[in-house]
Amino acid sequence: MTLLRVENLAKSFKGLRAVDDVSFEVTEGSILGVIGPNGAGKTTMFNLVAGALRPDTGRVHLGGKEITGHAPHRITAAGMTRTFQLMRPFYSMTVLENVTVAVLAGGAAKRTARETAAEVIARVGLDKWRDAPTEGLPTAALKRLELARALASKPRVLLLDEVLAGLVPAERTPVMELLERLRTEDGVTLVFVEHIMAAVMRLSDSVLVLDLGRVLTSGAPEEVTRDPRVIEAYLGEDPHAKA
Ligand SMILES: Nc1ncnc2c1ncn2[C@@H]1O[C@H](COP(=O)(O)OP(=O)(O)O)[C@@H](O)[C@H]1O
Ligand SMILES: [Mg+2]
Repeated sequence: MTLLRVENLAKSFKGLRAVDDVSFEVTEGSILGVIGPNGAGKTTMFNLVAGALRPDTGRVHLGGKEITGHAPHRITAAGMTRTFQLMRPFYSMTVLENVTVAVLAGGAAKRTARETAAEVIARVGLDKWRDAPTEGLPTAALKRLELARALASKPRVLLLDEVLAGLVPAERTPVMELLERLRTEDGVTLVFVEHIMAAVMRLSDSVLVLDLGRVLTSGAPEEVTRDPRVIEAYLGEDPHAKA
């Protein structure tokens, strides 16, 4: 079943077509990898889909309901949320407080918010840091916190913007395993923007390639990454290399 459907989405910034007629569908329980060079429009596309920006044209449907142009909190309530490439937790709070705020923002009852937050923190492997101040957390823990904040609303669809960026290879593997478990055990549908091709190859059921705001191609990871146009866009990087 198609859970997320994006049709002909477009957004210009002062004449620059950041996202230009982008369409794709995501099947429930699947993982879609989104790749493309810097400036391709990946983050802008997430902003349009998750409601941070209103598209100039196009439509977004979640679970058969149109959510185009809805505010982010409404889209979260409808079952879809995202992480930010540039993380912005409340640095003055602890990890538990940060996730509790996110749980409450997701519309949960006050009474159970801390409990739910603690569960989500355990889910992402942050127990060790639960009561630590957010300021001064290592990058790997901050990335997990960003995941926890997004998971706080119990989304059906999670949009991940470069969650592996800034992690050393040894830190990436457990995060990839966590993402796989979110899909298999929690049934979360994932759309993830990622530069690290080994992660794209490992996690994605299908891959969407953006370039200059447009869909360059899409399909199975093995096919897409053999496309000469994709290889050209990633000069010097062998998408089939092992992590
Ligand atoms: N708020 C904005 N105002 C003006 N230009 C923007 C804005 N956000 C993104 N852009 C431009 O849109 C293009 C796509 O950016 P972005 O979506 O961040 O790409 P990606 O995430 O693929 O690197 C870039 O040329 C970028 O400079
Ligand atoms: Mg980006």
